[in-house]
Amino acid sequence: MTKVRVWDPLVRTFHWSLVLAFGANALVIDDDGKLHQWIGYVVVALVAVRILWGFIGRGYARFSSFPPSVNGSREQIIDIATHRNRIHVGHTPLGALMIYNLLAALLIVGLSGHLMTTDMFWGVEWPETVHETAVSWTEVSVLLHIAAVIHESRRTGVNLPRAMIGGYKEIPDR
Ligand code: HEM
Ligand code: HEM
Repeated sequence: MTKVRVWDPLVRTFHWSLVLAFGANALVIDDDGKLHQWIGYVVVALVAVRILWGFIGRGYARFSSFPPSVNGSREQIIDIATHRNRIHVGHTPLGALMIYNLLAALLIVGLSGHLMTTDMFWGVEWPETVHETAVSWTEVSVLLHIAAVIHESRRTGVNLPRAMIGGYKEIPDR
């Protein structure tokens, strides 16, 4: 077993705070009230900090360590289809695509939500439609994200959720 430190405290705090805040707004909090808006702004702030950290952070947190890659994603799909077990220490190429998708979708959710509260767009229909659609898109993405995390954990033998809690990936020796 090789233990590698991958996720720094900022990435881990970001992730689980995001799960709580997004989950609260999507599932629990009444979307009609001020609390919904404040929690929504917390989500936007978390995403903004994470984007900044993607440029100024270190190691696997940096965007340059998981660039969007068509070739890498194709190779990962082939690995999955052919049961080839190649370990990626940071984010996998498909994981990276999902992360960019989630970050962008969350910004659209936040911006469209904010527009609904402005005088200029109050009562205008399209920001609401964008908000609802972006929330649904994010929810479907999250379900896929969780399914992929479970699948990749099983496939590679590396417990990914545990790494997002403790910061270390425990990679089995082969
Ligand atoms: C994680 C972020 C967010 C999530 C998951 C979320 C989710 C939702 C959902 C599910 C609805 C109900 C849509 C429907 O009627 O079918 C809604 C409505 C709404 N959201 Fe958000 N939202 C988020 C962020 C925000 C932000 C940042 C704002 C504004 C600052 C905002 C303002 C609103 C408003 C004004 C409504 C309409 C409420 C009404 O029907 O009167 N949301 N949101
Ligand atoms: C209980 C449900 C969830 C679990 C178990 C989970 C697990 C994980 C794991 C293991 C990773 C790292 C993947 C890797 O090793 O490459 C990750 C990354 C990520 N997840 Fe989740 N996740 C959950 C829910 C969510 C939700 C609800 C969101 C967004 C609304 C989300 C957004 C992200 C993002 C943005 C990253 C990238 C982290 C970074 O580099 O900063 N996750 N998640």
